[in-house]
Amino acid sequence: MHTVVCQCCMNKIFNHSSESMKEIPDKSVSLMVTSPPYNIDIQYGHNWEGGRQIRSKGVKYTDNLEESVYRTMLANVIEEIKRVLKDDGQVWFNIKNRYDKGVITPPFWILDYFSDMYLKNIIIWNFDWGGSTNKRFCSRYEYVFFFTKQKDNYTFNLDDVKIPALNYRPDRYKSQLKNPTDVWRISMVSGNSLERTEHPAQYPEELVERIIKVGSNPGDLILDPFMGSGTTAVVAKRLGREFVGYELEKDYIKIAIERLKNEETNLF
Ligand SMILES: C[S@@+](CC[C@H](N)C(=O)[O-])C[C@H]1O[C@@H](n2cnc3c(N)ncnc32)[C@H](O)[C@@H]1O
Repeated sequence: MHTVVCQCCMNKIFNHSSESMKEIPDKSVSLMVTSPPYNIDIQYGHNWEGGRQIRSKGVKYTDNLEESVYRTMLANVIEEIKRVLKDDGQVWFNIKNRYDKGVITPPFWILDYFSDMYLKNIIIWNFDWGGSTNKRFCSRYEYVFFFTKQKDNYTFNLDDVKIPALNYRPDRYKSQLKNPTDVWRISMVSGNSLERTEHPAQYPEELVERIIKVGSNPGDLILDPFMGSGTTAVVAKRLGREFVGYELEKDYIKIAIERLKNEETNLF
């Protein structure tokens, strides 16, 4: 099914805070997927070289806001997300635990911001590399919270995201494919991965691909209010959806535009 969406904001990344999404009309977005800044002092000004992070000259987004400022910013963005979301729309919010001197603060406080929506899944995104620790087990997962605006009326294309069944036996199973569960094993974007850009907090295309495929249809408008290097935009276009996004840092928008150009070259 091809739905018609607003033309004025389609396939654009706006260079200002998503606390105001004035370019997007009410109830025009089908699916929102994002990873917000985590406020864990990520060095957004740094570049990658040969798979290693090196310091760059540019001063970028400061990922160590005072906690109340950080939460107010997220609350403002989430209010805007709800305004622009269609009645049958959905939200996929990727966030992780924070560690302060080895003590965990889980991100469940974010659920309060979505208390007027329906929490459908807490996805555990599991990956296989990261920092090492010696006084607790290494963390190898992040959350993706999945919310819908309406309880039962929302897109969920389960057939489009089936995965190979590990224990397939032709005498027992009708199909070699099975439904994914709420634990998703998907590699992080490593330093030498082909999709790696200079953005220090990129999420993998495969993660976004499963979300967009299951939760939207071709022609739908996909929103990412923290667009970073443009992963959401790239995957949305590849899957025949439209996108709109926001990003504070011009350099990251340049990276996103470059990725989108490469995508077009590969598509046509
Ligand atoms: C975790 S990163 C997103 C990375 C993205 N998912 C990707 O794959 O590249 C968060 C991004 O949000 C941007 N950002 C932070 N606050 C913002 C705001 N209020 N409005 C728009 N962008 C913001 C940061 O500059 C950063 O690039």
